[in-house]
Order: sequence, then structure tokens, then C-alpha cells
Amino acid sequence: MSPPVDLVAGARPNFMKLAPVVRALREQGRVPFRIVHTGQHYDPAMTDVFFSELEIPAPDVHLEVGSGSHGAQTARILERYESHLLQARPAATVVFGDVNSTVACALAAVKLGVPVVHVEAGLRSGDRSMPEEINRLLTDAVAELLLVSEPSGLDHLRREGVAPEKARLVGNVMIDTLLAQLPRARAGDTLARLGLAAGGYGYVTLHRPSNVDDAETLGRLVELLLEMARDLPLVFPVHPRTREAARRAGLAERLAAAPDRLVCLGPQPYGDSLALMAGAAVVLTDSGGVQEETSVLRVPCLTLRENTERPITTELGTSALVGNDPARIRAAFARVRRGEWPAGSPIPLWDGQAGRRVAGELAAWLGAR
Ligand code: UD1
Repeated sequence: MSPPVDLVAGARPNFMKLAPVVRALREQGRVPFRIVHTGQHYDPAMTDVFFSELEIPAPDVHLEVGSGSHGAQTARILERYESHLLQARPAATVVFGDVNSTVACALAAVKLGVPVVHVEAGLRSGDRSMPEEINRLLTDAVAELLLVSEPSGLDHLRREGVAPEKARLVGNVMIDTLLAQLPRARAGDTLARLGLAAGGYGYVTLHRPSNVDDAETLGRLVELLLEMARDLPLVFPVHPRTREAARRAGLAERLAAAPDRLVCLGPQPYGDSLALMAGAAVVLTDSGGVQEETSVLRVPCLTLRENTERPITTELGTSALVGNDPARIRAAFARVRRGEWPAGSPIPLWDGQAGRRVAGELAAWLGAR
């Protein structure tokens, strides 16, 4: 039997991508694997909840790195994952998405001659001030097998000189999780518990440094949310980073100013968050994953960014870039309220089978090495 592959996850958005790949690898039974959790996210609400809800087996290896500056966090993951690699060399290291755990483990692996597989390769925002963009560029530069979620990914990789035979369009693994969980989420009591009716509220997520780290920008956004919430109640699960930024900026009180209209919650489990998104009249977000999820759910999505690495969500999906200027957001919100928003259309290969395609590609690629 060949050694297992390592499947690396560290931060919340990784877990929804890992789950379908684990399921497919088990089902196909051709590639043994180990789950490595870096510990980048460590609050139970940001990690444990997802493992149990999505039925991901407990990690085989936990690196327990915790928070830190980008350099410190990345370095700690690199060092600890390298020690693990030296003790138990895998057949390959599979990394997901664009978080610090992704680039750190890819780098540790490639330096030891362990081939790297990147799931969700090729996405580019063109904005190098985003930590995720740097993580994407570097991870793809060292990966041997690049599994892509939307056509733009193949174009970027070709332009960057990646040999075409290394890249494959497999679709979006995160959408596998969404489609698998949606019936249960819809049947659950999430909305009722919060006193909400489908279509009668908006849903907000914000955590990008460009929106939350600057006190003035965050302050403007909070005031805008309070204003819009007078028209439509807004549910806002607040990311720990945003909670902390609001506290530092002296905005905690404003966030709590209209608790019936701007309903601030802690980070939500996957099923609750999915139910809230699926029932929302509109979503405001700066999350890449939420842009994708709303596109599949066909819920209008105002993306509070100037660019996106997921252009298919604005071409075929329901997302539009609105930046973080209140006037622009307000105008887009009004368009949604008037029913003037693209309904969206299906996105090829976002069909619930991407995990199987990843597992199939992985087995074929390992077999050919
Ligand atoms: C990370 C990813 C981002 C992803 C996001 C989803 C990088 C560069 N960023 O950003 O792409 O969209 O996860 O959540 O990898 N914190 C906690 N508890 C936790 C984790 C974090 O309280 O379990 C707080 C800490 O104060 C920490 C801050 O949140 O300093 C930021 O966490 P970090 O993992 O550095 O980045 P995220 O902003 O979560």
C-alpha cells in the first residue's frame, strides 16, 4: 500500500471544501489519506462545529498553531508541518483554497520534495494587497496538480506558464457541501428560532481587512447597516476579527444599537448559516465563499469588494461588486428591493459532484507517477 496523502485544512472556509473530498476518497477507496488540521482557526465555533456537522473524521494530526501576524502564523505552520512531514512522509500534500495554512503547507511539502495538489487553483483577484491573492499565487507556483473550480482559473494558470496538463477543471467542491446540506438546513428551525420569515430579512458577513481593519471604514459600514436595517431587518453573524475590530474602533455600542433590526450573532454553524442565506432577500458580504453560495442559491449578493477572484459569480451568478462606498451599496440595495437584480443561471460543474472528480483525478495522477 502506498503512503497516504495529507489533506490539509486550517481555517473555516477549508472545512466545507475538505468534507466532500474526504467523502469521495472513502467512497472510491483508492487513495488512503490523513487529515491534518493546522489550528489556524481554533475557536470551537470556527472549527469543531464544522467537523461534526459535516461529518469530517477527527484530524489525524493537529498542529495547534493559533493566531498571529501573517509572518508568524505562516512560519509556525510551515515549521510544524515540516516536522510532521519528516516523521511521516505522505504521497502528496493536498491543500485547499487560499488561507495561510494553504501556502504554508504547500511550501513545507515542496521543499521536501513532496508533490503538492491544490484544490481551488487558478483563482486571481489581481489585487496583491489581499493576503489570499499572495497565498494563491505562491501555492499555484509550487503545485504539481492544480484542480480548478471555474474557467477563469485555467486562463490564469495558462497565462502564468503552468503546463496545461497539470491543470484540470473539476468544479466547486464547496458547492457539493451546500447541495448536500441544503434540504436539512431548509427543514431546520433556524429562521423560526430567530423570528424570521423567508424573504423578510437580509444577511450580512464582513471580515476582510479592507472593510473592517480601518475604524472609519468600519464605522461608515455599521451606520449604513443600521440605516438599511430600518427598511429590512439584517442578520449579521460577526466574525471574531470583526468583533475585535469593532471593539477597538469603539463601535461595539453602535453594533448593538438596534438589536431587533440589526441582529448581531456569533459565528454560525454551517447549517444555520446556509439556512439564513437561502432564506434571505439579499446578502451583503465580502466573503468569496458566500459569493459562490448565493450564486447557487440564486439570492442577490452585494459583494463589498472592488474585485473578485471568482468572476463567474458576477457573470452567471447573482453577485455584483459594490465596493465599500455607502452610496454605491445603498443604490444596489435599492435595486434589489425593487426586484431589479439578475436571477442568475446554473454554473457548469457546480453540481455536487466535484469531490468525486477531485478524488478521481487524484487517484489517476498518483497512479501515473
Ligand atoms: C482567514 C483567512 C481568510 C478567510 C477567513 C475565514 C488567511 C490569510 N485568511 O481570515 O481568507 O476568509 O479565515 O474565516 O488565511 N480569531 C479568533 N478565533 C479563531 C480564529 C481567529 O478569535 O478561531 C481571531 C483572532 O483575533 C485572529 C483574527 O481572528 O487574530 C484573524 O484570524 P486569522 O486566522 O488570522 O484570519 P481570518 O481573518 O480569520
